[in-house]
Amino acid sequence: MDVPFAPPGGHVLVQPTGKRKGRWSGRRTELVEKPAAYAVPRCPQFGTCGGCALQELDGAAQADARARYARAEIAAGLGLPTEDLASRVRIHDHRRSPSDYGYRNKVELTFGVRRYLSDADHAAGLPVTGRFLGFHAPGRFDRVVDAPTCDLVPDALNAVLAVTRRLLLGDDGPSIYDVRTHQGFLRHLLLRRGARTGEVLARLYTATPACDTDRDAANAWLDAVFGAALPDGRVVGASWAVSDAVADVAQGAVQASRGADRLDERLGDAVFSLSATSFFQTNTESAEVLYDAVGEALGDASGLLVDLYCGTGAIGLYLASRFDRVWASRSTPPP
Ligand SMILES: C[S@@+](CC[C@H](N)C(=O)[O-])C[C@H]1O[C@@H](n2cnc3c(N)ncnc32)[C@H](O)[C@@H]1O
Repeated sequence: MDVPFAPPGGHVLVQPTGKRKGRWSGRRTELVEKPAAYAVPRCPQFGTCGGCALQELDGAAQADARARYARAEIAAGLGLPTEDLASRVRIHDHRRSPSDYGYRNKVELTFGVRRYLSDADHAAGLPVTGRFLGFHAPGRFDRVVDAPTCDLVPDALNAVLAVTRRLLLGDDGPSIYDVRTHQGFLRHLLLRRGARTGEVLARLYTATPACDTDRDAANAWLDAVFGAALPDGRVVGASWAVSDAVADVAQGAVQASRGADRLDERLGDAVFSLSATSFFQTNTESAEVLYDAVGEALGDASGLLVDLYCGTGAIGLYLASRFDRVWASRSTPPP
């Protein structure tokens, strides 16, 4: 049975919610017994936000649980029973993220006119409709989990989020896009910070402005964010992108901007120039842990390094100093 927010090692009460392809899914209604490695989740949205569902485990137990999921996926992918995996495939020990919180270097939030409420919020009579900015609610295309802060991103990005909420979420702010009616202006917010440099990019996604008030609000946001004082970083660029596409994804043509359209990030000795949207591992510290593991797995190999599916070339560049030549390849398949 698939039950989100059921911490491995604990016991939960479950209300079955349906069966698909022969597999039941259910909703946790109560944590009856805590797991041995229980930790108090730090995030105020825990339990309603779809991400970070393992926060009730301490960092080491979270890593163990993820390693078990990964082994099960690898076994399923190879068509092997999980118990045969260790004897058939060499899998290196898993390694933990150096940080349990504040590690995400990129986050995308969605504006919404309906929010997702927990059972307790429903019981307290909180209204569903309003002006919200947060994360997609699990299983609900039209609701967002309102997120005044996110503990997975660094303080600098929470500061930009706070500026955005203060400026745009007030009752006198511009209209918010409604994914049911496809009306409204504000759509998404994308924030990115170079963990090694503190450089921040922020992008506001909207529909086409319907009036001067919309245009003025977007320009005021550009000025406020570009000039914002941050606790651990500096906004190097802010941009406003517009799209009327029906799909609920952050995309669009840049309409106006302040500052740069790229930030610098470092992995080892390599410096990466990243746009707001380019692919990069979202946990910079973990990327180094991961690429060190790749380096160790390569042993004393030298000569030519071939980096397939290279993305921005991060693995090849990180390990380049050990090799005479790096050959990297990627293609972007048509959607
Ligand atoms: C997850 S990203 C790369 C991650 C990168 N190795 C890193 O660690 O940062 C996957 C990359 O594979 C590329 N890609 C996807 N399908 C491909 C294909 N059929 N042939 C070549 N490259 C492909 C994508 O464009 C993307 O750059």
